[in-house]
Amino acid sequence: MSAPVITARSLVKKYGDFAAVDGIDFEVAPGESFGLLGPNGAGKSTTMRMIGAVSSRTSGELTILGLDPDSAGPQIRSQLGVVPQADNLDMELKVRENLLVYGRYFGLPRVEVAERADELLVFAQLEEKAKAKVDDLSGGMKRRLTIARALINQPRILLLDEPTTGLDPQARHILWDRLFRLKEQGTTLVLTTHYMDEAEQLCDRLVVVDKGAIMAEGSPASLIRDHSSREVLEVRFGSDRNAEAAERLASVGDRIEVLPDRILVYSADGEAELARITAMGLTPLTSLVRRSSLEDVFLRLTGRSLIE
Ligand SMILES: Nc1ncnc2c1ncn2[C@@H]1O[C@H](COP(=O)(O)OP(=O)(O)OP(=O)(O)O)[C@@H](O)[C@H]1O
Ligand SMILES: [Mg+2]
Repeated sequence: MSAPVITARSLVKKYGDFAAVDGIDFEVAPGESFGLLGPNGAGKSTTMRMIGAVSSRTSGELTILGLDPDSAGPQIRSQLGVVPQADNLDMELKVRENLLVYGRYFGLPRVEVAERADELLVFAQLEEKAKAKVDDLSGGMKRRLTIARALINQPRILLLDEPTTGLDPQARHILWDRLFRLKEQGTTLVLTTHYMDEAEQLCDRLVVVDKGAIMAEGSPASLIRDHSSREVLEVRFGSDRNAEAAERLASVGDRIEVLPDRILVYSADGEAELARITAMGLTPLTSLVRRSSLEDVFLRLTGRSLIE
């Protein structure tokens, strides 16, 4: 196996006494698509900023493309593309100018930057907005411009912190397609997301983080296999009967998860559980059997829903 492009060992980031990242270990292989999943405040963005060589670590080891961000920040940053959680575009500049200025910041030749900028405007579907002021773009358009800008230096590693938050479904699907193509060309992707469908679509491997620590690691399929049942039965009894039904269902299936509006029954065979529940004289208002998803893994490991 080729050497990892990112290695973190006992990586810690403290703000005062508070450890936002509390000793995490991971490796990312070249060309891999690696995801960080976790609830709000888990330490995902803090980790991304350390990888991006814009925030120094408190302790532990961190190597990006074989380099230490403490001593080789500029060299690392020149090979990264960064999409931060909050857009940090230059509001005063026009759309195309944002790309040009950013490209020249990397010391790229003027002609090359101009060519690249035009390609990226097409990539982000912003050709018609090339001369618009950034301030006048919609939220989703700003996001697309931030992503385009991150690609101006043809990065080896692309860091994407919640890349598709605020994008409409069509723009999200287009972006997934573009990211997939970048991956096919060998770009390493590191991303955070709150969308499990995005994680399942894009990530070869992911870690679930909570309170600065890694709770689980694996491919989406292996995480589901290891941390959830094959199927999930979702039953609704109405808010006045939910608690009572939950009590009576406590021993049904492998385990149950009681949500405010429904009860999830984890089992290899959802239909069989439904038959059992009905035989107990409990009749749900609605029932649904589905395959387990990453959301179930997330719920199990963090006790929280992906989108709170
Ligand atoms: N500059 C800072 N100073 C002090 N505390 C910080 C700072 N940046 C982040 N934190 C804290 O570190 C913790 C992790 O924050 P971080 O932004 O990494 O979370 P996250 O996983 O990206 O969450 P989200 O899903 O909400 O984006 C939070 O408790 C946050 O308040
Ligand atoms: Mg964040």
